[in-house]
Amino acid sequence: MQIEIDEIAKDFGATTALHPVSLSIPSGALVALLGPSGSGKTTLLRILGGLEIPSSGRVLFDGEDATGMTVQERRAGFVFQSYALFRHMTVAQNIGYGLAARPRARRPSKAEIARRVGHLLALIQLPDIGARYPGQLSGGQRQRVALARALAIEPRMLLLDEPFGALDAKVRRELRQGLRDIHDETGLTSVFVTHDQEEAMALADLVVVMSMGRIEQIGRPQDLRARPASAFVRAFLTV
Ligand SMILES: Nc1ncnc2c1ncn2[C@@H]1O[C@H](COP(=O)(O)OP(=O)(O)O)[C@@H](O)[C@H]1O
Ligand SMILES: [Mg+2]
Repeated sequence: MQIEIDEIAKDFGATTALHPVSLSIPSGALVALLGPSGSGKTTLLRILGGLEIPSSGRVLFDGEDATGMTVQERRAGFVFQSYALFRHMTVAQNIGYGLAARPRARRPSKAEIARRVGHLLALIQLPDIGARYPGQLSGGQRQRVALARALAIEPRMLLLDEPFGALDAKVRRELRQGLRDIHDETGLTSVFVTHDQEEAMALADLVVVMSMGRIEQIGRPQDLRARPASAFVRAFLTV
């Protein structure tokens, strides 16, 4: 799905989280929103998913104005830094939750939910953990399960907010590759938030550098390295 962000702005009271920002995300792209804390990354992501209402501006999905769309209608798969799995449910129940909780008319059969959960467990390369509880998993495994749960609803886009932020460096690299593979395999359009430039440069097709509620620069990782546009981007992208 192609995503068009058209002059989106957001104020929280006296705080301007986003000045009008515009951004075109091609269908199937893996995009990083990169910037320091407080630069408006989460706010922009939440506006895409319908969790936050913009003060002005529009978002278009495949050319269709999403202003009036509910969270459900947007069909975003969310992954957050904190795992947000239900501790009293098994892994399989967690992954199938979004399907099992649907109104009867749109709810797949139990067998169909089990089939999809099995497929997703294979996709995250943890085929044998369906009966376990989140408390019995490592942090990396939990975040893979969170990704599977986000995919279970057959989303039109994946929205990930610092998805690897709580993990140690080795696990983070493994999951990065896992996300890249799953993104490529599913053909989804994915947007992920990070303040880790190495992560953004290693993973994304397109990096959107943000600062103080503005987009400073948009480019492919190799272009950003070669031609940083502003002093801010130069400083921020220098290790
Ligand atoms: N719900 C909120 N209420 C008030 N201010 C907020 C809220 N959410 C975000 N902000 C403010 O908006 C700015 C951008 O925040 P955020 O989008 O979370 O940045 P980032 O994800 O880049 O760290 C910050 O100044 C933050 O304090
Ligand atoms: Mg944030």
